[in-house]
Amino acid sequence: MATATPNIASSEIARTVIDPNAYAEWDGLLDTFDWLRENQPVAQIKPDEEGVFEPFWLITRYDDVMRISKDNTTFLNNPRPVVFSLNSAIEFSRKATGSNMLVDSLVVFDAPIHPKYRKLTQDWFMPRNLKLMEGEIRALADKAVQTMIDNGPEVDFVKSVAAPMPLHVIMQILGIPEEDEPRMLMLTQQLFGGQDADLSGTGMENMTPEQVMQLVAGAVKTFEDYFAGIAAERRANPTDDVASIIANAKVDGEPLSDRDMAGYYIIVATAGHDTTSATMSGAMLALARDPEQFAKVKADRSLLPGLVEEAIRWTTAVQHFMRTAAEDVEISGQKIAKGDWMMLNYVAANHDPTQFDNPRAFDASRSPNRHTAFGAGAHQCLGLHLARLQIRILFEALLDRLDSVELAGEPARATSTFVGGLKTLPLKISAG
Ligand code: HEM
Repeated sequence: MATATPNIASSEIARTVIDPNAYAEWDGLLDTFDWLRENQPVAQIKPDEEGVFEPFWLITRYDDVMRISKDNTTFLNNPRPVVFSLNSAIEFSRKATGSNMLVDSLVVFDAPIHPKYRKLTQDWFMPRNLKLMEGEIRALADKAVQTMIDNGPEVDFVKSVAAPMPLHVIMQILGIPEEDEPRMLMLTQQLFGGQDADLSGTGMENMTPEQVMQLVAGAVKTFEDYFAGIAAERRANPTDDVASIIANAKVDGEPLSDRDMAGYYIIVATAGHDTTSATMSGAMLALARDPEQFAKVKADRSLLPGLVEEAIRWTTAVQHFMRTAAEDVEISGQKIAKGDWMMLNYVAANHDPTQFDNPRAFDASRSPNRHTAFGAGAHQCLGLHLARLQIRILFEALLDRLDSVELAGEPARATSTFVGGLKTLPLKISAG
């Protein structure tokens, strides 16, 4: 029987779900999601004080997250923000850009606009084209692993390998010169890690939402100006990179507006590396904690694709996206009204025991492993083949070179509700 009475989460749960610090305390967060999935699988999250944020429905079951992701007619990305946002942030964005989101991009569009933009770069990100990059990615991975070994035996895996490698790959794709990469990294972290004092580069603990938004808006503006220069250059001298496709693209016979073009660059630049970095670090943490599994995968490389997929599930670097109901609908017995906001919680879905046995364990031989970490449906991750390729090639290089790996200190997780994962991973490595 469907219930029209909202299943309202307790204040304590509501605070946890929207608290960036809770995402750094992973096990406690997973306990909360386990409880919700079992007891309130579609739970309304309301602010303690009215008006701080719009109430939303938190979706924690795998089947529900998949159903909503795949139905892009009933569940829209517009007009509410696609990432959990405080009302003050939405207001700030409206004033700055006239839109609910600071950046217009693929994740903000719905049909009929979305497929037109998505089609522009879809083929470029397919395995057939990415094959051309394999040699370059392998050389990068070998170099990163060698540098790490040279700096060993104690290293921070995030800083030495996981952060720089995917950043470099995505910057190559976007035609950004190597000397600008540190600046681009800082900007991305301000955009995604604005809630984290270390990652935002401000060192400021407990920034107010307004301070975070100002930081983010500044980062967006800098990105826009920077990419306008790249686009002009690629119009004059097109190459076969993604930057050239975007700069020269036409939708309905018209070139992209400056804002849409910048949005496209920004979504690729930002979505493309922190996520992959976090997943690489996640896999390394799991192997450092489990020498037997490390030895097993090192000896049997047929386990490598499984390791990659499990790293993606176990890490779930993108922790949620939001959707808005286009009509009245029912989910797991709960009535949802047209216009309601929903959080697809990929972390909770990827730890649903009805889909994954012993979900908190890292198991490279897990099969099947149909996780939700890349989403599903029309917005499914554009870069999923690129992410898989990079993680596989890096682990080929790591497993070739390293004899053992163990933790050399406590790893720290990012305090972020959106893109999560490790920000430090101290390791002791030994290489033959
Ligand atoms: C392990 C790494 C990654 C994870 C976990 C991840 C996860 C996701 C998720 C969950 C979505 C939203 C799906 C949905 O709404 O249904 C998404 C979208 C997207 N991702 Fe990724 N991603 C990763 C790597 C990458 C890379 C390397 C790129 C590089 C191009 C990329 C580019 C994008 C873009 C452009 C979108 C928006 C697609 C659209 O709305 O049509 N991602 N990703």
